[in-house]
Amino acid sequence: MIPPTNSAPPVAVQFPPKELKKECEDILSRYPTRMAACLPILLLAQKHYDNWVSPEVEAGVAEYLGVSDSHIRGLLTFYAMYNAKPAGRHEVWVCRTLTCMLRGAGKLRDTALGCAKAKTTGEVGEDGKFLVKDMECLGLCEVAPAVFVDGEAHVDVTPEKLTELMEACD
Ligand code: FES
Repeated sequence: MIPPTNSAPPVAVQFPPKELKKECEDILSRYPTRMAACLPILLLAQKHYDNWVSPEVEAGVAEYLGVSDSHIRGLLTFYAMYNAKPAGRHEVWVCRTLTCMLRGAGKLRDTALGCAKAKTTGEVGEDGKFLVKDMECLGLCEVAPAVFVDGEAHVDVTPEKLTELMEACD
């Protein structure tokens, strides 16, 4: 017998909030269906709600786009650029694909985790400042190793340069 659970479904936020209404409409106008606009709308929602998509936001976006919550959940958990749990104030992506690894990305990962005071990638550091993520090829192999700090690309990165970049984040 399946034990009863007390978990009620999340209460959907009213999405989009008025600040995002126009931008959402612009995005929707560029896609043939509402479902096709899921990825950019989710990115917009994540940016607006402290860099992560809570179950309540997930439900609000699903309602707005006329898709199931599980469809949105699938996108959130499949694509590395989304956060389905609280993220730090800053996000550092370290490429872990072959070219970058051959050019020292392993040391960059250790450096990023040290600066973030985090035990592992995908977890926010103890002071809540950084989320370090392992990413697949960032498309900058010719100038490897590459990292992104808060969405900005940095190339030919050394541990010293990464430390400087992370120390500059407030
Ligand atoms: S392998 Fe790192 S950017 Fe392509």
